[in-house]
Parts: sequence; structure tokens; C-alpha cells
Amino acid sequence: MEKFVINGGIPLRGEVTVSGAKNAALAVIPAAILSQDICRLENVPVSISDVNYMMKTLKYIGAGVKLIDKNTIEIDSRHVNSYVISHDMTKYLRASYYFIGALLGRFGRARVAMPGGCYLGPRPIDQHIKGFEALGAKVSVEDNAIVEAVAENLTGSPVYLDMVSVGATVNIMLAAVKAEGLTVIENAAKEPHIVDLANFLNSMGADVRGAGTDVIKIRGVENMHGCTYSIIPDQIEAGTFMVAAVASKGDVLIKNVIPKHLESISTKLIECGATVEEFDEAVRVSMDSRPGKCNIKTMPHPGFPTDMQPQMAVLLSLAKGTSIVSESIWSNRFRYTEQLARMGADISVDGQLAVIRGVEALKGAPVKADDLRAGAAMIIAGLAANGRTEIEDILHIDRGYENVVEKFGSLGADIRRVYCVEPFSATDAG
Ligand code: EPU
Repeated sequence: MEKFVINGGIPLRGEVTVSGAKNAALAVIPAAILSQDICRLENVPVSISDVNYMMKTLKYIGAGVKLIDKNTIEIDSRHVNSYVISHDMTKYLRASYYFIGALLGRFGRARVAMPGGCYLGPRPIDQHIKGFEALGAKVSVEDNAIVEAVAENLTGSPVYLDMVSVGATVNIMLAAVKAEGLTVIENAAKEPHIVDLANFLNSMGADVRGAGTDVIKIRGVENMHGCTYSIIPDQIEAGTFMVAAVASKGDVLIKNVIPKHLESISTKLIECGATVEEFDEAVRVSMDSRPGKCNIKTMPHPGFPTDMQPQMAVLLSLAKGTSIVSESIWSNRFRYTEQLARMGADISVDGQLAVIRGVEALKGAPVKADDLRAGAAMIIAGLAANGRTEIEDILHIDRGYENVVEKFGSLGADIRRVYCVEPFSATDAG
């Protein structure tokens, strides 16, 4: 078992380079099997565990995966020979379900165990299924555990999503690029990683238009080919460093970012009193006083991202005044507030609303990472707090932040990964 130990209270200073976007990589990697060829992917966050599981899954179905350098991989999908993926491969992450769309596109058939992933409330896949069925697939879910989708002929069709869903938009795009005729996804997600996936698919010869708007038009093609493609920078990792810079009253240049993707985060940090300077591919964020309060409502892109909500709540727990955070995507994304309370934060939660009464300082404490972004919030809280914070269950953080200790360490943070012995449990007694 591992944990992070942080001695807080040190302002972060210096430069840090953001990795490739986790959620883009998780869509692009399974998409590569649509080419039946060799794809080279650059700027891949290879060492995060979610990406690792996706690469293992590729091998499991017969693809070749070669590490070219620390952030470049080559996927050879010429010999993919299975449309079946078992629970062992899917249980760790949500995005494993992108293999349903990709295998349907490749073979007209997929049998994939239900996905795992962070618990943020119920995560139904009805819109994915609705999309596959609109394209002509017969879909069954066995014992709520295995999704089987079979299509004699995938046929393009209009699909209206009942709610904006990143996952459903991705999955329908993956199947539709090989369907016969035109698919129109209405009320599609507009996140940067949707645009990145569309660009990758088009680089392989697909015909996808409108990604980044709420109507995506896909004209199916018969064949796709290999390509070289570079994944966009991670918007949420960048936002996490931005908030950490402000919460620690530091001054940080964050490189390898697309400032446009960070606008909703920059706007809120400026509202709290931070200085945010934009460059072509970097942002510099600084703060030298206690933050002011601000209210946040999470929304699909271009609104404030739900994946930045816990990190921002840490900052607001240190603000002058009372802030209100409203979570509109996930029904259970405030569990981390119990951990923050152990550090002295004053937060009350009522359903999807959190009322945060800012305190002057947080104090270090033993806490745990309930999920990936909750874990990022614990790191920020530990960096900003006085004293020592120990974070357990960091496997969640390792799912989505590449070299997190090294990166924060390079900014002057006192953060270490510590190996510790598993606590003695009743079963150990035999
Ligand atoms: N929803 C349905 N039915 C569906 C699909 C979604 O009701 O068929 C609901 C969900 O329950 C949720 C809302 O629609 O209330 C939005 O869900 P969405 O499908 O957009 O989320 P997702 O694709 O499962 C991705 C990210 C999440 C991020 C959300 C929202 C990946 C792998 N995951 O999840 O990222 O929170 O979009 O932006 O891209 C993270 O990186 O920490 C993370 C959790």
C-alpha cells in the first residue's frame, strides 16, 4: 500500500509541463482498432494506470502495442482477433466501454463486460445503447454484467441524446464511422476530447464534422488507415496545477496547455482574485493574498467542468466569505468534503449543493482519496495546509495524474510517495 505525505504551507513556484489528456487518450486508444493498420500516438500519458489498462486491453484482443518513447506508443491493430473483453479487463475503468463502439465498428459485434471507474453516483449507459440500436445493432445486457451488441449491417441514423453525455457521444462516434450512410448525433457533448477524437478519426480517413458543436455529422467510410497523431494536453491536469498555484499563494507557469480549454477555470480564478496570464501554449497563474469567494455551477463544456469541482472547493474553503458550489452532472460528487472537514474546512452539503464558509487556514490531517479528482483536491489541500497531511488510497490519483509527485516536487512542494505496510486485519489472524 502506498500513500502521499505532504508537508504543506510552501508556495508553489516554477514551471510545470502538463501531460496528454487522459480522457482524450482513453477514447483515441480503442479508436485505433478501427484502422486495421498501424497508428502512432504521441503525447500519451503512458504511465497513468487508466491508460495502462487500455493498452493491456488492446493486447488482450490481439493488437500489438509498442512503447516508442515515454509518451509515444504504436498500436498495430492488423491482427485484432477478438470481440470479447472480460470483467478482469474492464473492472478498473469506465472508458473500457469504448471498446463496445470500437469493436462494433470493426467487427459488427462486441461482447464487453460492464465498466468500472470512479463512483460519482449511478452511471447508466442507456444513451450508449440507444445510439448503438439506432445504428441497427441488437444490444442485450446480461445480468447487468455483460453488454453484447451485434449488427448485421451498421447503418447511419439520427441519434438524439436525452442528456449531454461524453461517453455516449464517443461510443456512438466510434461505431458510426464505419456505418453505411450518415449518422447525426444531436445534443452531442462538446468537450475538447470529443474534438480530439474526431480529429484522430479523420486522420485515419473517417468523415466526422461538427465536433465541438452539439451536432456531429458522421458519414461512414468502408476503410480507415493508420496515422500519426498527437493527443491534446490535459485540461483537468492543467486546471489542477492552476488551482494549486492559487491555493498555495504561489506563482506557476503551466506549459503544454491550450488556454482556450481553460477559460472557465481561469475566469473563476480571476474572480477569486488570482492573476492569470495567457500565452500561446502556457498560462501563468499567481496569487499573493487570501482568495475571495465565488460561486460555481458545474456544466458540460464550455461550462465549468465537474472534474475541477473538488479542487476548486479546496480553494473556496480558504476564501474570504461564503461560496456556493452546485454540482449538476454527478449525484454523488461531494464525498471528499468529509475529508476536507478533517482538515478544518467548513462545508455543508445538501444534495447537489455545497455551501462553503471560508476559513483562514487548513491544518494537515490523515485523509483519503475517495476518487480521482477527490484525490487531486486532497493534494491541493495538503499543499495549502499548515503541517503534515497523509493521503491514503492514492491508487485513484495514479489513475489520472502522470508523475504527480515529481511534478509538484519540481514546484517546490514537499510531497513524497511512501510505501507502508497494510493495516493488520481480522482475517490476517487466520
Ligand atoms: N448519463 C446517463 N446515461 C448515459 C450516459 C450518461 O444518464 O447513457 C448521465 C450520467 O449519469 C451523468 C451525465 O449523464 O449524470 C454525464 O455523464 P457522461 O456520460 O458525460 O460522463 P462519462 O462519459 O461517464 C466523462 C469523463 C468523466 C467526467 C464526465 C463529465 C471519461 C473517461 N470520463 O464521464 O471524467 O466527469 O465525462 O464531464 O471521459 C474524471 O476524469 O475524473 C472523470 C470522472
